Amino acid sequence: MTQPAAATPAEPTGTITVRVPAKVNVQLSVGGLRPDGFHSLANVFLAVGLYDSVSATRAEEPRLTVSGPDAALVPQDRTNLAARAAELLAERHGLAPEVHLHIAKDIPVAGGMAGGSADAAGALLACDRLWGLNTPREELLGLCAELGSDVPFSFAGGAALGEGRGEVLTPLEVGGTFHWVFAAADGGLSTPDVYRECDRLRADDDVPEPVASEALLAALRAGDAQALAGALRNDLQPAALSLRPSLAETLNTGLAAGALAALVSGSGPTCAFLVADADSAARTAHNLTASGTCRAARATTSPAPGATVV
Ligand code: C5P
Repeated sequence: MTQPAAATPAEPTGTITVRVPAKVNVQLSVGGLRPDGFHSLANVFLAVGLYDSVSATRAEEPRLTVSGPDAALVPQDRTNLAARAAELLAERHGLAPEVHLHIAKDIPVAGGMAGGSADAAGALLACDRLWGLNTPREELLGLCAELGSDVPFSFAGGAALGEGRGEVLTPLEVGGTFHWVFAAADGGLSTPDVYRECDRLRADDDVPEPVASEALLAALRAGDAQALAGALRNDLQPAALSLRPSLAETLNTGLAAGALAALVSGSGPTCAFLVADADSAARTAHNLTASGTCRAARATTSPAPGATVV
């Protein structure tokens, strides 16, 4: 009788490409500073339809390249979180991280949209498939959490509540499509700097334990843009505005163009505008671009899928 073939890693293939989405935080409630230097969060993530692509190809030695208009702003060495993702996965499996990673970058760099986290999630999945490892999803999510607070969500996509430092995810239901415009700024903001500024601004306040807003979760479930607009919240926004006061002008320009709501995306400086429909998105993006208050404005929708092999 023929024996079934033993489970062996699949034969390596040429190149694996993974598409990964950007995110916006529709609620970012920031609690106190923890002893480990992170803040406890109630972080409601929504993946949006702006994507980076990460390709993994076998190579003689580790190599990382980046293309796209902002490529020059992205580290192309081992400090890139995508390279660290490949190293971490290789180390766990006793492999050498001999891979050429190429990132086709479309998500604003250092913009508060988790572009670096997206690239790490993409690199992890691309290398896992390239090396024929087929690591279980839960294990990959664990590796994501080691790489950064936002990486598990970049991997998962859709919508989720992130607790702990943002890495403990509960998937959320979304009952419809939301329309957004994102206005990228010139230059980025450092996430640790923004958290530090948040602590400084709130130094005399009693900071409550962060909890997810029931009104916001209901708005997501219902796919109700008006209700979501009323429930958006970002505790890092005052800090981002304090470090980059010109963002107030960008936010006002989008509101004047008819956006339902405007907020800084995560730690900024990208500004996010929730709009009623595709027409309003086009008008808002046009007015923002024409105003000169941002570098570029892009219309898109949410939710978007997580890391996907293409
Ligand atoms: O987890 P990640 O490496 O993306 O975090 C970057 C920085 O952002 C941390 O070093 C910390 O300064 C800040 N941060 C925080 N609280 C969180 C997440 C991030 O203070 N929950």
